[in-house]
Amino acid sequence: MTRPDLGSLYRDHLRQLMARADRALAEAGFDGLIVGSGALRYYYLDDSSYPFRPNPRYRAWLPDASPDCFLVYRPGGRPKLLFCQPDDYWYLPPARPEGYWVDSFDLEVVRSPSELRGRVGAGGRWAVLGEPGPATDGLGEHDPPVLVARLDYGRASKTPYELECMALASAAGVRAHRAAEAAFRSGASEYEVHLAYCRAAGAREEELPYNNIIAFDRHAAVLHYQVLDRQRPPGVRAFLIDAGAQHAGYACDITRTYAAAAGTFQELIDAMDAVQLALADRVRPGVDYREIHLEAHRAIAGVLTAHGIVKGSAEAAVESGLTSVFFPHGIGHLLGLMVHDAGGFMAGPAGGTSPKPEGHPYLRLTRTLEPGFVVTIEPGIYFIESLLAQARADARGRMVDWRRVEALAPCGGVRIEDNVVAQAGAPRNFTREAFAAAA
Ligand code: GLY
Ligand code: MN
Ligand code: MN
Repeated sequence: MTRPDLGSLYRDHLRQLMARADRALAEAGFDGLIVGSGALRYYYLDDSSYPFRPNPRYRAWLPDASPDCFLVYRPGGRPKLLFCQPDDYWYLPPARPEGYWVDSFDLEVVRSPSELRGRVGAGGRWAVLGEPGPATDGLGEHDPPVLVARLDYGRASKTPYELECMALASAAGVRAHRAAEAAFRSGASEYEVHLAYCRAAGAREEELPYNNIIAFDRHAAVLHYQVLDRQRPPGVRAFLIDAGAQHAGYACDITRTYAAAAGTFQELIDAMDAVQLALADRVRPGVDYREIHLEAHRAIAGVLTAHGIVKGSAEAAVESGLTSVFFPHGIGHLLGLMVHDAGGFMAGPAGGTSPKPEGHPYLRLTRTLEPGFVVTIEPGIYFIESLLAQARADARGRMVDWRRVEALAPCGGVRIEDNVVAQAGAPRNFTREAFAAAA
């Protein structure tokens, strides 16, 4: 497949971003925008730094990820990039940027963030986006809510450039997922699977969009399991991997679950795969994402009853809250520069909150889908001891076939997660597309 030209997509993206900023600045009453990439942070009492992650409101403008840089923009003019290249022999300073995006900026190389002050045009009311620090002290208003609301709200709809970056991130993530599955099937430990993943993704850990979740058996019942066991125990039955990759800062967020052998757990995975595909097909403009979440509960209730885990009707499983014992997180979230991307609860561009459905505190997206929204669809069924114990202690306990639960609990749980774009007609599924292309 020939890929579209990222350079021309980027130029359109930047034009759109500038138009969006022009509108937002006018509405919020500012003359210009200063956006900082952020500063390195250090461990307490130590001189080594945390991995650097740029301010996402900065990265929306350009793919570079160096600290202490500033974007300076005034409507009507070209955006200026103050690129910080410190004079340093302890660390290698970032190279002068190159690539498809650089010509769109007036690039000025500075040695220190303190040079910003002398290079912001005089006069006017400036908005400063990013963490406060000495470089921007007194230059303008920090993260003014009226402005950031408008900018964050707009970020939910991805431009064609952003969609292409996300497709490329998905391709890298899927390549690594396939390597991880192969490592699992050849007898690797969680830690070794993780190494195989990073190598195939071409990423250092800190370049991944979030910490890999690589969970064998019962570990999969810990939603964000973070330990990577160095030893593989004998007789592993199941493997859940939730891991992503990035392209130009844009993330993919993919989960797959594998059974070591055919049998009941594989049947549960197959059923959840069908549920996942049906829910992903609901990702269309005009659909309230909360409805997809509630639909997921109904579908999961169907799987729980069909597989004999829950007795009685699927409706009763939803009504009683029993489905939340097995599926205690949201159906997904916005995805972009951040894994849980900005603006998921916003009622409108001026702010306000769109509420979560009652009884569903962990849903992270409550908006109606629009063209260009990229969301995850990640239904799951887990056997989580603490939640099961609560259910066992009340009336819900009678609706559960505990022998069935005990048989499946050693497998931990199933989650299947794809990244899906709302667009006219059928949705685009980056994840399935990348798995099909890689097969
Ligand atoms: N990997 C984090 C999430 O799925 O939201
Ligand atoms: Mn996710
Ligand atoms: Mn995930």
